[in-house]
Amino acid sequence: MNKNTNVQSTIDKIDKIHVNASSPYDIFIGKGILKNSGTIVRKLNKGENAVIITDDNVDKLYSQVVLDSLKDAGYKVSKFVFPHGEPSKSHKVLMPIYEFLAEHSVTRSDVLIGLGGGITGDMTGFAAASYLRGLDFVQIPTTLLAQVDSSVGGKTGIDIAAGKNLVGAFKQPIAVICDINTLSTLSQEIFADGMAEVIKHGMIRSEKLFDMVFKGDFDEKILDVVKQNILIKARVVENDEKEKGERMQLNFGHTLGHAIERYYNYTSITHGQAVAIGMSIFTNLAERQGLCEKGLHEKLCKCLENNKLPIKTNINIEELYEFSLKDKKRLSNGINIILCTNVGKCITKNLTINEYKKFLQI
Ligand SMILES: NC(=O)c1ccc[n+]([C@@H]2O[C@H](COP(=O)([O-])OP(=O)(O)OC[C@H]3O[C@@H](n4cnc5c(N)ncnc54)[C@H](O)[C@@H]3O)[C@@H](O)[C@H]2O)c1
Repeated sequence: MNKNTNVQSTIDKIDKIHVNASSPYDIFIGKGILKNSGTIVRKLNKGENAVIITDDNVDKLYSQVVLDSLKDAGYKVSKFVFPHGEPSKSHKVLMPIYEFLAEHSVTRSDVLIGLGGGITGDMTGFAAASYLRGLDFVQIPTTLLAQVDSSVGGKTGIDIAAGKNLVGAFKQPIAVICDINTLSTLSQEIFADGMAEVIKHGMIRSEKLFDMVFKGDFDEKILDVVKQNILIKARVVENDEKEKGERMQLNFGHTLGHAIERYYNYTSITHGQAVAIGMSIFTNLAERQGLCEKGLHEKLCKCLENNKLPIKTNINIEELYEFSLKDKKRLSNGINIILCTNVGKCITKNLTINEYKKFLQI
């Protein structure tokens, strides 16, 4: 067998989900597939340099295997490591990334590899969208949130002082390599954070997924759970890449979730915890107003609690209302809210500010 046939057969053996975005790509998904990174990337990119961008935690755990694999595939590999955490997702790290790319003579034919959680993926994607007006990039997501959510859909960006994700671009990767084994080193809190998005996907699109994770004991089925999520997000993104309609439904729980995060100034509560509370409050309000199936709130809360997520907050509803009006996704004359009418089914409601206030029972 010649080398090319060998490469093709290695790639063929890995499960793939095709994303038919404006620039289509495959998401490779499996256990222990980090070692195949070089083979996958080489098939899609013919450049000389591959630059791994990762944070200090992930670097210690997973850089070497990816680096060796890229070298075996014939790349000159360099690595940029930044301190973990949201404050790094800013110009303070992005500018040194650009300088690093210049120092390493990276050209438009080369490829950036974002190895890590959503922060790494968002920032690497944005560097790839903007450096030299765009070069290839590959996402290797290593948190549950990044595997089921942020690595799918092409949203990239950084935070600025005025707010999170305010500067960014839509940039699709040439591939996503999703190695489930990396989830084994996540802390319980970071894993639970990703579960909020998993439960959200179940609530808006799939009773089957919701049931799979309901009791919180799905260790054996984790590969399947991640796949179901990727499929849901991929199909939504294919239908509405630039978030003009259907993609907004992925914001279920996020209107109040973002308000809660902003209230705490992005400290002392995680994004997933805030989204969990946001889903719970909206579903409770919807049920009280006869807008969803009876018992839905209790069912959702059980699922969230079984997955170690909170369901309420001490912040009063008036304050949540004020903070939610500052959301960048709000319309100039009103607000779109997403409500689930039952598990797996959701609707978008376009409300005026007065109607929104009424819905919140203020
Ligand atoms: N682009 C999108 O569509 C989208 C969607 C949702 C969220 N996001 C963004 O994603 C970011 C949050 O992502 P996140 O929760 O993955 O955060 P993250 O990237 O900070 O990762 C969380 C922590 O886990 C560590 N880590 C990562 N992988 C690990 C592993 N396998 N084992 C042990 N530790 C590991 C990291 O070092 C970090 O400390 C936010 O900035 C958010 O805005 C983007």
